[in-house]
Amino acid sequence: MPLTSPKKMFEDAYQGGYAIGAFNVNNMEIIQGIIQAAEEEQSPLILQVSAGARRYAGQTYIIKLVEAALQESDLPICLHLDHGQDFDICKEVIDGGFTSVMIDGSHMSFEENINLTKQVVDYAHDKGVWVEAELGQLAGVEDDVSSEKSIYTDPDEAVEFVERSGCDSLAVAIGTSHGAYKFKGDPNIDLERLETISSRLPNFPLVLHGASSVPSEFVEMANKYGGQIEGAQGVPEEKLRRAAQSGVCKINIDTDIRLGITANIRKHFAENPSEFDPRKYLKPARQAVKDMVQRKIDHVLGSSNAI
Ligand code: G3H
Ligand code: 13P
Ligand code: ZN
Repeated sequence: MPLTSPKKMFEDAYQGGYAIGAFNVNNMEIIQGIIQAAEEEQSPLILQVSAGARRYAGQTYIIKLVEAALQESDLPICLHLDHGQDFDICKEVIDGGFTSVMIDGSHMSFEENINLTKQVVDYAHDKGVWVEAELGQLAGVEDDVSSEKSIYTDPDEAVEFVERSGCDSLAVAIGTSHGAYKFKGDPNIDLERLETISSRLPNFPLVLHGASSVPSEFVEMANKYGGQIEGAQGVPEEKLRRAAQSGVCKINIDTDIRLGITANIRKHFAENPSEFDPRKYLKPARQAVKDMVQRKIDHVLGSSNAI
């Protein structure tokens, strides 16, 4: 099965009131865990690659690993660039065969963001590639993506941005943030703003970044076995379910993968101090990714049996 575009996935998701999980991938075990879960759930999938993932694994390795998954599975899979910072990286992955890119001009002025997005749209659409853009800013820090404060997306600007840039989907800022420390007190997600944006852009797919729910069992397991991940808090699952019914067709998840892997490896090291075969601790780590993704598809995304 060749890589697919998100177009049909998002049309079906929009109509069905569910969302497609976009999972960040960095290595073989992560890809295998995600694919095994989606296979069992018969769910469409987006595998996304950040600039940091591309540096870590190399574009060729990532593409070949995804090709291996496509060879062994009949799932519709889209390969997406996460947080493309400039035109060049978008062009490189489009030329390399990705079916979807994000151009992230969210740190720029409104006009600069439109111009950059439009430049990527012109190149991508010529080759049948999907373009996600971002308007507003999420707080949080990752390798290449960081912001101290969040700037919520303005609904009027969102309409103008989509019209003028020609982007295919739009990531909006409504209070989520990247990483494991999303909220200090109550999780404050502006679902009303999301509903307003969605009603102003009917049938247009929206995207939610920073959407990990930071499962407490992972945080507790990591901390029990020597971790120091205190005060971590994610987006409550019911808020994500509501977002999926309000025009959000793509929900981005990276932190939950990282937490599941790290918690299980810490546990394994603590319980098996004399072992040194990486397969012994990568196996439960891969299983944790699979279990987490399966739960996500079932309880949060609602994309089970959507193929
Ligand atoms: O939003 C960013 C993703 O979680 C990727 O993080 O840049 O550390 O690979 P990364
Ligand atoms: P999390 O840090 O909440 O997993 O968000 C990931 C993300 O938005 C990737 O683009
Ligand atoms: Zn993101």
